[in-house]
Amino acid sequence: MIASAALVADSRRTGVLAVNIVTIEHITGAVAGAERAERPLILQLSENAIAYHGAPEPVAAAARAAAIAARVPVALHLDHITDESLALRAPELGFGSVMFDAAALPFAENVARTRAVTEALHAAGVRVEAELGEIGGKLGAHAPGVRTDPEEAAAFVADTGVDALAVAVGSQHAMTTRDAMLDLDLISRLASAVPVPLVLHGSSGVSDDGIRSAIAAGIVKVNVGTALGVAFTSAIRGVLDDPAVVDPRRYLAPARDAVAAEVERLLTTVIGAAR
Ligand code: G3H
Ligand code: ZN
Repeated sequence: MIASAALVADSRRTGVLAVNIVTIEHITGAVAGAERAERPLILQLSENAIAYHGAPEPVAAAARAAAIAARVPVALHLDHITDESLALRAPELGFGSVMFDAAALPFAENVARTRAVTEALHAAGVRVEAELGEIGGKLGAHAPGVRTDPEEAAAFVADTGVDALAVAVGSQHAMTTRDAMLDLDLISRLASAVPVPLVLHGSSGVSDDGIRSAIAAGIVKVNVGTALGVAFTSAIRGVLDDPAVVDPRRYLAPARDAVAAEVERLLTTVIGAAR
């Protein structure tokens, strides 16, 4: 079933997992994992993944169909959208929330562009996540060493009206090792300063214990992409050596199953239990 747009706000005590989808096997695998764990899930489609497919419609339709058929609540979210016109297509594509990413811009410009997109999306009933990195902008939120300032974060949320805030607290995108050190004290201070749920990007690089501690400190939405790519691709490597394997289903089925297993593991042992 499609999850209510309030899923992130409703997950303050437990945390909620958001996974990046690239292929239909990511969609079906992730939903199968969430069903086995009996927990809600967010399927998120990035601007990069849309560029890969050449258009949002096919993968958006597949994600929507899978969410409707799912036995657990599944929300659909557009992730890291820098193009305003694409962000504004969320309602028509069936997405209940959008992460509008202007974090690489100077603060004032990030505020102005995010506020305009947020007003337009709110009018259509769509929730908005935005991102704030280095004080004053300039660097994206997940470059090494970047941190979000609590006071500036509070002002940003007040000025833009966003419903969730991605913060820079020590994680980085696309890590294949899980040794990112999160600043848990900063997460606590941000959670006290900011009235909306906090989002951790780059969670693939954070250990299970690190994610649990981050949720305990105030992170609500936990974004995982690369870790599913690692699971997906490792499963394919395991079967591709055999030259008799030519039917894509022979390697995509194990890849889909690996995504399901990792989503189930994250939801049963790391994210989604009350803190
Ligand atoms: O928005 C997507 C996430 O931040 C995923 O990051 O691929 O490093 O897990 P990750
Ligand atoms: Zn991200």
